[in-house]
Amino acid sequence: MSGPMSGSPKESPADYSSPKGSTTLNPSEEGVAVVSPGEEGRVTARGSYSPEVRERLERDAKEIISRYPRTRSALLPLLHLVQSEDGYVSDAGQEFCAEMLGLTKAEVVGVSTFYTMYKRRPMGDYHVGVCVNTLCAVMGGDQIWDELSEHVGVGHDETSPDGRISLERLECNAACDFAPVMMVNWEFFDNQTPASAKQLVDDLRDGKNVSPTRGPKKLCTFKEASRVLAGLPDDLAGDGPSAAGASLEGLKVAKANGWKAPEA
Ligand code: FES
Repeated sequence: MSGPMSGSPKESPADYSSPKGSTTLNPSEEGVAVVSPGEEGRVTARGSYSPEVRERLERDAKEIISRYPRTRSALLPLLHLVQSEDGYVSDAGQEFCAEMLGLTKAEVVGVSTFYTMYKRRPMGDYHVGVCVNTLCAVMGGDQIWDELSEHVGVGHDETSPDGRISLERLECNAACDFAPVMMVNWEFFDNQTPASAKQLVDDLRDGKNVSPTRGPKKLCTFKEASRVLAGLPDDLAGDGPSAAGASLEGLKVAKANGWKAPEA
C-alpha cells in the first residue's frame, strides 16, 4: 500500500447523494449488525462473531495490542482489523474492539465514526476514491466524479449491487502533482480522465489484472488493504516505485545545483 494512512474527519453524508435512479445499498442502522453479501453466517447475531472468526480475530488482536505500551492505543489498528473481516466497522467489530481494549462501546464508536477510513456500511471489493480537492477538482476531478458515479450508479460511500465497487469522494491524496488522482484500495492511479476512470472500474469488475501507477503491481482487495492498515503486512509495501515523474523534478534540480538540506 502506498497511499495516505489516515482518514480525515467525516463530512455530512447528505452532501453527496446517489445519482438519480440509483439505489443506496447496504443501509446500516445504528447499532444493528449488517452482514456483507456472501458473509452470512459469520456474524452470528447482533454484535457477535462465530467462534472460529472470533478465535482468529483474537489471535491477531493480541499481536497488535502487544506492540503498544497502553492497550487502548491499539484502537485505530483494531478498527482496521475488524474492517478487514467485515468490509466495514460492524456492530460486532465495535463490540470486539471495546472488549479487547477495555473501552466502552461509546468510546469505540466515537473514534470509528470520526475518521473517514472507517466505514459504516460494507464497501466493495474495490473501493475507488476520486480526489475532488481543489487542484484535482480544477484539473478534472469533479468531472471524473460526476461521470464515474453515473457510470457505476452509486454515490459517495455507496456500493454497487454486485459488491464489487464502492465509490468515495476524497479530499486530497497528497499526490497533487499527479492531478487528477484516483485511488483504489489506497493505491494510486495518477493523471486520470473520465474515460480512463470508467475503463479502470470496468476492468476491475471484469476481473482483469489492474496495476496501480505507483506501488505494487498487484492490487489487493479492500479487506486485504484493511488488514495491512491494521499492521499485518502483506510484504508488498516495498514493491514498485513509490515516487516518480513530477514528484522527483525538484530533486533533480537540487542535485544539478548541488543543493542540500541544512544540517539539523
Ligand atoms: S488535490 Fe488531489 S491529490 Fe491533492
